[in-house]
Amino acid sequence: MKSLGKRIRVLDPLSVSGRQRVETFDLRDLILNTLEAHEAQFERHKINVKLSMSDDAVNVRSVKGMIVQILENLISNSKYWLDIDAGKQSGKKSTISISLLPSPPTIVYEDNGPGIAQENRERVFRSFFSLKEKSKRRGLGLFIARECASYVGGSLTLDPNPENPNGRLNRFTLELPLNTTK
Ligand SMILES: Nc1ncnc2c1ncn2[C@@H]1O[C@H](COP(=O)(O)OP(=O)(O)O)[C@@H](O)[C@H]1O
Ligand SMILES: [Mg+2]
Repeated sequence: MKSLGKRIRVLDPLSVSGRQRVETFDLRDLILNTLEAHEAQFERHKINVKLSMSDDAVNVRSVKGMIVQILENLISNSKYWLDIDAGKQSGKKSTISISLLPSPPTIVYEDNGPGIAQENRERVFRSFFSLKEKSKRRGLGLFIARECASYVGGSLTLDPNPENPNGRLNRFTLELPLNTTK
C-alpha cells in the first residue's frame, strides 16, 4: 500500500492539469520520488541504483510531469535492456547510475546494459525507431522524452563519448535551463 501511495503521488503530476503547471521545486526530490516508486521493481529485476547528488537543493522552475515522464521512459528502457543483458551474461550486476549536476541543472543517466551503437545515436530519438523484439516495439519512449525536454526548454541527448569499453553509448544527458527565479 505504501508503495502504491508513492506511485500515485509521483504519477499525479502527469495528470492533464499537473502536466501544464510550471512551478519551482527541488530536482533532487523529484528524482528520489520517482526512484522510490520503482523500488520493488528494481529489486525484482535485481537492478542497483547509484545516485549521486549534492547536499544542496537543485531548484528548477519547470513542469514536474514532463521530467517524471522523461525519467520514466529512460527507466523503462533500462529495465528492458538490463534484463536482456542479465539473461545473456549471468552474474553481471545490473546498474542504473544517476548524477545530478546543479548549474545548469543536469541529470546524467546511464545503465550498464548493452548500450546503443554509435550510428544510432540520433536515430533512437526518432518516432517508431525500436530494436526491441517485435511484440514489445513501440519506438516512442525516447521520442516523447526528447519532446518533453524541449517543452521545458531543455535538451535530451545521448552522450557521444562513453567510457564503455565496447564503444557503445549508454549515457543520456538531460539539461534544463538555468533557473531564472529565486
Ligand atoms: N537503456 C538502453 N539500452 C540499450 N538500448 C536502448 C536503451 N534505451 C533506448 N535504447 C534503444 O533505443 C530504441 C528506442 O527506444 P524507445 O524510443 O524507448 O522505444 P522502444 O523502447 O519502444 O524500443 C530502443 O529500441 C533501443 O534500441
Ligand atoms: Mg522505450
